[in-house]
Amino acid sequence: MATYLATTHEIGGLFPLLAANQNPAMGARIGYDTLSGGAFHCSPIDWVLGGLVTNPNLVVFGEPGRGKSSTVVALLLRMMLFGTRTLISGDVKGEYSPLVRALGVEPIALGRGSPARLNALDLGPITTRWDSWSVARQRDELDGVLGRWTKLLVALAEAQGYTATVSDEAVLSHVLRRLVGAEDGYTRLREVTVPAVHHALAHPDPVLVERARFADERQFLDTLRPITDALGNLISGPLAGLFDEPTNFALDWAAPIQSMDLSRLRSRGDQAVAVALTVLGSWSSLITDLQEDGEIRIVVRDEVWRQMRLGVKAVQAVDSDLRLSRTDRKIQILVGHKPSDFLSVGNTGSQEVAIAQDLLALCSTRILFGQSTQVADDLAEDLGLGEPEQDVTTGWCMERQGRALWKLENQPGFKIQTVLSSAEKAVFDTNAQLRANGGR
Ligand SMILES: Nc1ncnc2c1ncn2[C@@H]1O[C@H](COP(=O)(O)OP(=O)(O)OP(=O)(O)O)[C@@H](O)[C@H]1O
Ligand SMILES: [Mg+2]
Repeated sequence: MATYLATTHEIGGLFPLLAANQNPAMGARIGYDTLSGGAFHCSPIDWVLGGLVTNPNLVVFGEPGRGKSSTVVALLLRMMLFGTRTLISGDVKGEYSPLVRALGVEPIALGRGSPARLNALDLGPITTRWDSWSVARQRDELDGVLGRWTKLLVALAEAQGYTATVSDEAVLSHVLRRLVGAEDGYTRLREVTVPAVHHALAHPDPVLVERARFADERQFLDTLRPITDALGNLISGPLAGLFDEPTNFALDWAAPIQSMDLSRLRSRGDQAVAVALTVLGSWSSLITDLQEDGEIRIVVRDEVWRQMRLGVKAVQAVDSDLRLSRTDRKIQILVGHKPSDFLSVGNTGSQEVAIAQDLLALCSTRILFGQSTQVADDLAEDLGLGEPEQDVTTGWCMERQGRALWKLENQPGFKIQTVLSSAEKAVFDTNAQLRANGGR
C-alpha cells in the first residue's frame, strides 16, 4: 500500500474527505461523492432528526451484480462503530454468513438438515414482557401482533393461489385472538401455530361458528374451505416442518449481527423461499419492535423482490411491516432489482401502483444502482427522478460496481461511489461461488 508523508498544513487541504457536500458528515462513511469529491456519510436516523428525510428506511434498487448487497454491508459494518446492531432477515444466498461468522456470530440456518425452527406465529419477546405491562398496553401490543399475523396468513394463502376475502380475514383474526388466549381476560398468552389455526378452521367449535355469524357448521366449512386448504398446504407442502412448530432458538440481542440463512431452502423452490422471506419479514419486524434496549437496529431485507412475486398481499405485508413499526430507532433496508418489482405482482392497474407508491413513501432514502432501462414515468415521479438522473442510473452507475445515485426524498441525487476495504471485500465476496465453480 502506498504511503505518503505531508505536513498537517498540507494534509488539511489534501485529506480527500474534507471537501463538503451539503450532506452532514455523520454516521457511516460510505465512499465519495463524485461531484464534490468529498466523503459521503450515511446516517438515516440523523437524517430524520435533521429534517433531510421523513423516515429512516432505505430502499436499494439495481440490476444483479451492481454492488447493492456490498453497499449494505459497508453501511452496516460502519454503523457498528456507533453501536448499531443488524438483523439480516433472510439471507437467500447465504452470502452474509462468512461476514456474520467473521464477527463471531453463528448464523441461524433454516432448511434442509438444520434443526432450527421458526414459528410463523411466534410471539417473540412479548410473552416475557406481558406481566409487566398495563392492561391497556397489553391490549395495544396484542392488537398489533394479531394485525401482523392476519396479514401474514392472508399473504401466505395468496401464495397458495387463493385470494382471501374480508370474511376470511375477519374469521382468521377471530381464531387467532381465541387461540392466543386474548379472550380469557388477558392473563396468559398461549403459543399459536399454523396447524392450530388450520385445525380451528377445519373443526370449528359452535361458539366460533356463532360469533362469526354463520348459520351452521356446514356453511362455515364451505365458506372457509379455500383459506383452510391454503393454510393446509403450508403444513404439508415444501415448507412442512419449517414454520409450523414452536420456535426453538433464541436470538442473542447483544450480538452485533444476526442472520437467518435461507440458502438451504433454495432446493425447495422459489415459492418456498418467498414464503420464508414473508414469514421472516413479519417476525423480524415484530421482535425488533419489542426490543427496548434503546439501540438502533438495522433490519436488512435483501432480495425482497422474491417475496413480491407472491402477490399483492405479500407486497402489502411488507408495507404493513414498515407501517406498523412503532420504534423510531429502526432502520429497515429493502433490496430489490427495480422499482417495478413492487408492481410485478399484477397488471399495472391502479391498486398495484398505489401499493408501490405507498411502499416507496415508507422508504425516504432510495439508493439507485445501475439499470439498463429507465424506470417507468409514474415511478420516476415517485422517486423524484428527473431525466438527467435517470440517465445517471442507466449510464454512469452501469460503468462501475458500487456506483449509485442516492436520493434523499426529493432532493437532487448524490452520485456516490461506495469504497470497500480489502477486509470487507474478502469477507463479503458474492462471486466466491462463481469463482469456485469456474476454477474446476
Ligand atoms: N463498491 C465496490 N467496489 C468494488 N467492487 C465491488 C463494489 N461493490 C460490489 N463489488 C463487486 O461486485 C460483486 C457483486 O456485488 P454485490 O453482490 O454487492 O451485488 P448485488 O447488486 O447485491 O447483486 P445481486 O443482485 O446479484 O445480489 C461483489 O462481489 C464485488 O466483487
Ligand atoms: Mg445482492
